[in-house]
Amino acid sequence: MGRIKFFSGENIPLEMHKVRIVQKLNLPCIEDRLKFMQEAGNNTFLLNNRDVFMDMLTDSGVNAMSDNQQSAMLIADDSYAGSETFTRLEKTLEDIFQTKYFLPAHQGRACENILAQVFVEKGTVVPMNYHFTTTMAHIVLNGGSIEEIVIDEGIKVTSKHPFKGNMDLYKLKAVIKSYGKEKVAFVRMEAGTNLIGGQPFSLQNLKDVKKICEENNLLLILDASLLSDNLHFIKQREEACKNMSIKEITQEMIALCDVTYFSARKLGFSRGGGICTNNKDLYMKMRELVTLYEGFLTYGGMSVREMEALRIGLEETMDEDIISQGPLFIEYMVNELDKKGVPVITPAGGLGCHINAMEFVKHLPQSQYPAGALASALYIVSGVRGMERGSLSEQRDANGNEVFSNMELLRLAMPRRVFTLSQVKYAIDRIEWLYKNRELIGGLKFVEEPKTLRFFFGRLEATTNWQDELVKAFRKDFPDSL
Ligand code: F0G
Repeated sequence: MGRIKFFSGENIPLEMHKVRIVQKLNLPCIEDRLKFMQEAGNNTFLLNNRDVFMDMLTDSGVNAMSDNQQSAMLIADDSYAGSETFTRLEKTLEDIFQTKYFLPAHQGRACENILAQVFVEKGTVVPMNYHFTTTMAHIVLNGGSIEEIVIDEGIKVTSKHPFKGNMDLYKLKAVIKSYGKEKVAFVRMEAGTNLIGGQPFSLQNLKDVKKICEENNLLLILDASLLSDNLHFIKQREEACKNMSIKEITQEMIALCDVTYFSARKLGFSRGGGICTNNKDLYMKMRELVTLYEGFLTYGGMSVREMEALRIGLEETMDEDIISQGPLFIEYMVNELDKKGVPVITPAGGLGCHINAMEFVKHLPQSQYPAGALASALYIVSGVRGMERGSLSEQRDANGNEVFSNMELLRLAMPRRVFTLSQVKYAIDRIEWLYKNRELIGGLKFVEEPKTLRFFFGRLEATTNWQDELVKAFRKDFPDSL
């Protein structure tokens, strides 16, 4: 995909697939969008999909499937125990990851539940390059805590660092020393660090982390949910890996880790998830929790059709043309916005384009949820649904105080092979308009605040009538456009 250059010199990604099934989209007018956003409590999770033009909420479970995935779903062998489908999936994982044992689960957080229950004890700590919301929730639920030890560059918004998701090795040693190694439940590396802009880590960094884990007899666990983007970046940006195939890089990464888990809603363009390991003792410890929470060992909450789609999706993940579509579309979007002066996380990472709300609406204090306000404003002016990834996505501390996040981001996820380039251009156009009118964006306040994972169900309202003013300004510039 990235290897094709245009005679005109234009630098745009060229799709290496064709579209054979389509879904009609609906773009409600701005007056209706305002109504829908307010009815949804200014929480983009609570919008109805029929009212959304471009759904950039997530890339989880909404990536386009290939013809081969669809056709494999037709040969799925349905059985509670011992289905042929499960055996085929197990074989594929063994071939690609070179791991002997596989535990299926209904999605990524279900794996996290099992891992946290087995390895986290009260008072233990899990050092990680960066947390993901559900990961942290499960660790905390089991009495543990986390230490975020990504390199300092990782939380700088603009940077040229190719691997902003790298773990800081000095900080890792310091955490082990200060807690004592017996208090470290495991070390967790997240491929394509979700909350700080889908930033990858390098293979070399994983090797260095492994060495420290070995020296201290600590388990290394990989969250491979966003592995495909990380693989693309290692291949593109890490000199020592230029001549390795995607499969070789994958195998080297997995071999360094004691346990690998993933959400198949992301990895493998399907649904479901699973845990892989070569360590029989660890496998035995986790196994009974699969039957307790997920289902029998040969489906773990997944349907056989999902497992077939996952099997093919994993094989297709080893194809550079396939996994580079997301990162290259994201790079296009990030670079175009950057050129227009819109504050975005650089360099472009995986998962999606991340707008820096702290800068975009710098007149708003964190207590008014700048990233949430921006998500609400963007839906109103465009019908594009993004996701708040800032203080709203955090949890209050034990005393009920707000925990302000390091970054206030509006994440615009890029579901793979779902949008055309002109749709991406539309999103860029409306974001540019909103940026020019950013002073109009006001804050949000909670009217209903759940205790756990509040961003999913929380309802908020605008602190002033700023949303009406935004609609008026839009109508002035676009008297008769949707
Ligand atoms: N780990 C990472 C890095 C993730 O991005 C996700 C999900 C999970 C674990 C949990 O997996 O959803 O299958 O239970 N991320 C989704 C997102 C929800 O929108 O970024 P899950």
